[in-house]
Amino acid sequence: MIGFVGAGRVGAQAALEVASLGVDDLILVDIVPGLAEGEALDISHKLSEAGVDVSVTGSSDYSSIAGADVVVITAGLARKPGMTRMDLLGKNAGIVASVAKEVGKYAPDAVAITVTNPMDVMNYVVQKATGFPAARVVGMGGVLDLSRFKHVLSLRLGVSRSSIMALVIGEHGENMVPLARYTSIGGVPLTSILDGKQIEETIQSTRQVAIDVISKKGATVDAPGNAIARMVKAVAWDRHDVLPASTFLDGQYGVSGLGIGVPLMLGAKGVEKVYELALDEGERVQFMKGVETIREGIAALPPL
Ligand code: NAI
Repeated sequence: MIGFVGAGRVGAQAALEVASLGVDDLILVDIVPGLAEGEALDISHKLSEAGVDVSVTGSSDYSSIAGADVVVITAGLARKPGMTRMDLLGKNAGIVASVAKEVGKYAPDAVAITVTNPMDVMNYVVQKATGFPAARVVGMGGVLDLSRFKHVLSLRLGVSRSSIMALVIGEHGENMVPLARYTSIGGVPLTSILDGKQIEETIQSTRQVAIDVISKKGATVDAPGNAIARMVKAVAWDRHDVLPASTFLDGQYGVSGLGIGVPLMLGAKGVEKVYELALDEGERVQFMKGVETIREGIAALPPL
């Protein structure tokens, strides 16, 4: 069973995507009375027409996630135009800590997928509040960032999106690190197609696109829903997908004591392997800026 705590825009969209794939039964929980039940009904009606036979239910009672194998946490406030993800820290820390305690209580064997922003810091909160081993707490950010990088590249190069294999690591925030040196177009290194200035332009555009969406439609919804579904599928079907996501580092990349986006293998046990890449000086500086921002965010947390 797959639990979704937070049935707002992103939670409901992710639930729709996961349900449509027929991955497993779903339970949605939200603090707003009736909201999760309403979303669950709406999704179920769509599934009926599509002929998908998973059960989708909603509740405002956390005990309904009892025994879940995966729990997606989107509960909390979202950015408004002009805000950075870090601006959400104070309010969301309390919400996420209280939600994560319930997840630890009712779904003690689950893999938790943190989505609420600032995601890398909230992922730390989820790990502390659930008490789960680090491997069973993973944050969604990199898959979404790389979908944005692919979009920018496909427009710039005029190539099919399906030809692009890209990677974005680092903080899910202002310091994300799109890795041009590890990106290829049908196997052709991006660095042999674009020069340094052109690559920098694509990286800047990638950093900007989320706030463009928020300022135009109020929230990012569809692409995050898809990125969450990809991660849920990896865990629920034990796929061993390799994708970028936020996980706790234990010396890799010269970092310990916090989590940040890196390439990892995701399966039923959660994070089963972390891949360490050789970063050049510019990439390392940007990656470490993200580490410092996350460290400052953790230091600013209220007592959990
Ligand atoms: P939203 O406001 O539409 O939904 C949030 C939901 O959380 C609301 O329905 C609210 O009632 C619920 N909630 C609040 N406190 C709760 C509690 N204690 N228990 C259960 N539910 C509770 O917001 P949206 O757009 O769905 O975004 C959710 C979060 O995800 C935000 O923090 C946003 O910044 C983040 N986000 C992260 C992304 C990522 O890549 N990691 C991408 C997109 C959004």
